[in-house]
Amino acid sequence: MNLKRGHLGVVGVGLGLFGCVLLIFAANFTLHAENEDRRVTEAYQGFQDGKCQSCHPAIWREWENSMHAKAWVNEIYQAAAQHIPDRETKCDQCHAPQPILMTGIGKMPKLRGRQREAGVSCLVCHLDAEGAMNGPAASAETYFHANVTNPIYILPTALCATCHGQESVPEHDQVSSFLESEFADGNASCATCHMPIVKRLQSTTSHESIKGRKHTWRGSRSVTQLKRAATLQLQYTSGKVDVKLHSRTGHILPGGTLRSIVLEIVFLAPDGTERQKQHITISAENENRLLPNETRVYTFDTAAAKTGNTIRVRLIYQLTSDTPESRRILMAEKTHIIP
Ligand code: HEC
Ligand code: HEC
Ligand code: HEC
Ligand code: HEC
Ligand code: HEC
Repeated sequence: MNLKRGHLGVVGVGLGLFGCVLLIFAANFTLHAENEDRRVTEAYQGFQDGKCQSCHPAIWREWENSMHAKAWVNEIYQAAAQHIPDRETKCDQCHAPQPILMTGIGKMPKLRGRQREAGVSCLVCHLDAEGAMNGPAASAETYFHANVTNPIYILPTALCATCHGQESVPEHDQVSSFLESEFADGNASCATCHMPIVKRLQSTTSHESIKGRKHTWRGSRSVTQLKRAATLQLQYTSGKVDVKLHSRTGHILPGGTLRSIVLEIVFLAPDGTERQKQHITISAENENRLLPNETRVYTFDTAAAKTGNTIRVRLIYQLTSDTPESRRILMAEKTHIIP
C-alpha cells in the first residue's frame, strides 16, 4: 500500500512537473508571439508617425515621389478598379499589399487592412513577421528595428516578380520577357535600370556612407527613361524608306498594357507644311510590342515625297488613350532630306 501510494505520488509529481514545463513553454511561446506582434504594430505605427521618414529622409523622399507610393491613390488605378466587381481579390491586393515577406516572395500578395493609401509602402518590401527590417548588409544598428541581411535584395528580380510577374496577371508582367532576354545575364536585375546605385548615409544615425540604391523606380513617366528605351534609324533609297526600330528596354516595350508607342512618319515641304502623314501604333492591344533587344524594320513608300522634302520619323509615347497630344512624350526623332 505504502509503496503503491508512494509510487503514485512520484507519478503525480512527475505529471505536475511536466505540466509546469508545458505551461512555461506555452507562456514563453505566447510572450514571443506577442513581442513579434508588438514589433509589427510598432513598425506600422512608426511608418504612420513619420519615424521611417525622420531616420531615412533621402529614401523616403524618393519613395514618396514614386508610383509605388501612389499605387493605391493613383486616379488611373482607382478609375480602372472601380469597374471590377471583385476588385478586393482581383486587383487591390497588389496596389495595397500586406508585407510580401509575410505572405511569401513570389506568392500572390494579400490585401492590407490598414494604411491602404500608402500603396506599396516601405513595410511591403522590407518588414518580416518578426517585425524586423530585411535588406542588404547594414553598416549600423538602431534601437528602432532589427536589421536582417537577406540575399534577395542584392538582385531583387524575384522580389519585384511578386507583383510584376504573376503568371495569372499577364497584363502586369515585365519579368518574364526580362528573364528570357540577355538583359538578365550576369549581374543585372530590375534594379539595374530602376534603382540606380548611390553611395550615401543610409540613415541619419549611420556613421559611414555605404553603397545602396535610389528608391525612385522611374518608369514610363520619366522622359529620360523613355529616351533610353529605343533607337531609330532611317535608310532612304529612292521610292522607299526603311525605319529601323531597336528596343533597349530590359523587357517588353511598352512595359504596360495601357501604353502605346506611335511610330509617325511625315513628309515636310521646304516651308515646313506637312504633305503626308502615316503612323503605326505599337501596343499590347495591337499585339505588336517589342521584345528586349528586338530590331524591327518598317518600310514606308515615299513615292509621294519630292526632292527637297524632309522625311521626319518620330517615336511618341502615350501613357493612356486619354493622354492629350500636349502631354505625349517624344522618345526619338530622325530626319532625312530627299536629295
Ligand atoms: C532611429 C532611427 C531609425 C528609424 C526610426 C528607422 N530606421 Fe531603418 N535603419 C536605421 C539604421 C541606423 C539602419 C542601418 C543603416 C546603415 O546600414 O547604415 C537602418 C536600416 C534599415 C533598413 C535596411 C536593413 C538592412 O539590414 O539592410 C531598412 C529596410 C529600414 N531601415 C527601414 C526602415 C523603416 C521602414 C522604418 C520605419 C518603420 C525605419 N527603418 C525606421 C535607423 C532607423
Ligand atoms: C508589392 C507589389 C510590388 C512590388 C514587390 C514591386 N512593385 Fe513595382 N509597382 C507595383 C504597382 C502596384 C505599381 C503601379 C503603381 C501605379 O502606377 O499605380 C508599380 C509600379 C512600378 C514602376 C512604374 C513606375 C512608373 O512611374 O511608371 C516601376 C518602374 C516599378 N514598379 C519597378 C519595380 C521594381 C524594380 C521592383 C523590385 C525592386 C518592384 N517594382 C517591386 C507593385 C509592386
Ligand atoms: C499581381 C499584382 C497585381 C494585380 C492582381 C493587379 N495589379 Fe494593377 N498593377 C500591378 C503592377 C505591378 C503595375 C505596374 C506595372 C504595369 O503597369 O504593368 C500595375 C499597374 C496598374 C495600372 C496602371 C496605372 C498607371 O499608372 O497607369 C492600372 C490601371 C492597374 N494596375 C489596374 C489594375 C486592375 C483594374 C486590376 C484588377 C483587375 C489590377 N490592376 C490587378 C500589379 C497588379
Ligand atoms: C518595391 C520595394 C521597395 C520599397 C517599397 C522600399 N524599398 Fe527599400 N529597398 C528595396 C531594395 C530592392 C533594396 C536593396 C537595394 C540595394 O541593393 O542596395 C532596398 C534597400 C533599402 C535600404 C538599405 C540601403 C540601400 O539602399 O541598400 C534601406 C535603408 C531601405 N531600403 C529603406 C526603405 C524605406 C525607408 C522605404 C520607404 C520609404 C523603402 N525602403 C521602400 C526595395 C524597396
Ligand atoms: C535595361 C533597362 C531595364 C531593365 C533591366 C528593366 N527595365 Fe523596366 N523600364 C525600362 C525602360 C526604358 C522603361 C520605359 C519604357 C516602358 O514604359 O516600357 C521601363 C518601364 C518599366 C515600367 C513601367 C511600365 C509602364 O507601362 O508604365 C515598369 C513597371 C518596369 N519597367 C518594371 C521593370 C521590372 C519589374 C524589371 C525587372 C524584370 C525591369 N523593369 C527591368 C528599362 C528597364
